[in-house]
Amino acid sequence: MSKILAIETSCDETGAAVYDSQKGLISNALFSQIDLHKQFGGVVPEIASRSHLEKITQIIQKALGDAKTTLDDIDTIAVVNKPGLPGSLLVGVCFAKALAVAKQKKLMGINHLEAHIFSACIENSLPFPFLCLTASGGHTAMYLVKDFGNYECIAHTLDDAAGEAFDKVAKLIELPYPGGPEIEKLAQSVNFQDFFKYPRSKSKGLDFSFSGLKTAVLYDIAKRGAYDLKTKTFLKSNDQEFKTHVASSLLNAIADIFVEKLKTAHKKYPDVKAITFVGGVACNKFIRSKIETFCKNRTVKFFYPSPQFCTDNAAMVAFVANYRAQQHKFDDFNLDIL
Ligand code: KG4
Ligand code: ZN
Repeated sequence: MSKILAIETSCDETGAAVYDSQKGLISNALFSQIDLHKQFGGVVPEIASRSHLEKITQIIQKALGDAKTTLDDIDTIAVVNKPGLPGSLLVGVCFAKALAVAKQKKLMGINHLEAHIFSACIENSLPFPFLCLTASGGHTAMYLVKDFGNYECIAHTLDDAAGEAFDKVAKLIELPYPGGPEIEKLAQSVNFQDFFKYPRSKSKGLDFSFSGLKTAVLYDIAKRGAYDLKTKTFLKSNDQEFKTHVASSLLNAIADIFVEKLKTAHKKYPDVKAITFVGGVACNKFIRSKIETFCKNRTVKFFYPSPQFCTDNAAMVAFVANYRAQQHKFDDFNLDIL
């Protein structure tokens, strides 16, 4: 039996979790910085690092306390060391190294994307191989997952991430950050109708491209007299109905793009036994229902994590750390970021 303390500070969430090799996840603590970044319409890297520094001790103490354990019972300190904001990653990695040296623990660096890829496994027993669609504010990619720790990136975004497209269009029509949940709320109020039928991605093959969609939305809004391209001003700040129509149309376009790419991927890899949808954007119930219908029609199983395991969290880091510990994949104290 062994216990892992996992730390996540790659972007704007400070997370810590404790994982027991026999009992599974026993605690998962998180501080989200969303309120700190809201006024800037996106994550401000320096504010993010300073906030991690301020919160990391209490979040780790909370995770240990909730797990009714102490550092003395922990065998391994696992920490996300890539990819992410350098200043934010440094806080977690320095803290993890200091703990590991002072308390003589094993140390392990974890790839944040690998943690997302296996996040649906925290609560479900998944059949291999499976296809994983990861969509967050910083990343959008597809993976062919053959086993724990054995996966291959089969597609990535050529420009913006899907979450970024939600966030940027939301900013354009003056919705608060992060845009994804706001857009979903508005779209739901009109029963997810596709009003403006924005163009679907033209990128060939499996790779994604969302910057064209974002630009198409901008020009469509301008064409409808709601945006002044010269002064870069949104002209319908008080027109809730228009905002709702933009939001619902955008959500339809992004959902269709995902289903189309999954269709292409499934044709290429027909032997996959399941499809998973992970990352912050996987909180979106409309996109999930579209993917679910696609999977049902093809008799492929569909899995997605609970919302707290979709957005950044330390539980998914702990899960990966647990199987890596069983494979004896530890790091030495030269562990670096990125
Ligand atoms: O995984 P995450 O917490 O952080 C990154 O690693 O980026 O994902 C955050 C992203 C944001 O872009 C946010 O707008 C999006 O996930 N998001 C959503 C929803 N909830 C969060 N997008 C669409 N629908 C949602 N319900
Ligand atoms: Zn993430």
